Amino acid sequence: TDTAAALVERLTQIVPDFPKPGVLFRDVTPVFADPIAFGRVCEALAAPFAVGGGFAAVAGIEARGFALAGGIAAQHQVGVLTVRKAGKLPGEVLSEQYALEYGEAELELRPGQLEPGTRVLVVDDVLATGGTAAATVTLLERAGYEAIGFAALLELDGLSGRERLEPRLPVATLGAV
Ligand code: PRP
Ligand code: HPA
Repeated sequence: TDTAAALVERLTQIVPDFPKPGVLFRDVTPVFADPIAFGRVCEALAAPFAVGGGFAAVAGIEARGFALAGGIAAQHQVGVLTVRKAGKLPGEVLSEQYALEYGEAELELRPGQLEPGTRVLVVDDVLATGGTAAATVTLLERAGYEAIGFAALLELDGLSGRERLEPRLPVATLGAV
């Protein structure tokens, strides 16, 4: 049987010049579409964080983090928090700006959905510079939760995402490219 890491490596598609010229995009959606791989990668992403105090919720980062968060949460019988791009959530929201390669972006979270101190696992498809994940951790902390770890399918070498996050929380990925 294939390991989760082997499935990610085999099924991820490398797309040149997307979403703009010069970018080598890793498209993980074939991992989601495969019925064996999806469940297996969800199990593997959560495994390092299910020991000790575990987690009582999973935060998924828009958009591909939503799929992974849903799979992990169902396996562990916990709920999902959706961390969204600005302007998508109604009512009271916390907002956090972060730097992109060019310009700025903003993520939002609805506070007050879980008890203060809830242990939350953060998940996304790809860790690049870590700006998106760092903004998410800040949002969770501002909402009163404890971000206990960050898990992603792939991390991009040379962009220092891991170095940026590890002072704040443990990081686990299924591969580095
Ligand atoms: C991608 C990816 C991560 C983020 C990683 O999302 O899914 O969320 O970028 O980059 P960083 O570590 O440098 O912050 P994208 O901005 O493509 O949004 P999408 O999921 O809505 O397509
Ligand atoms: N794939 C998905 N998300 C990303 C990538 C990628 O190659 N690079 C930065 N965010």
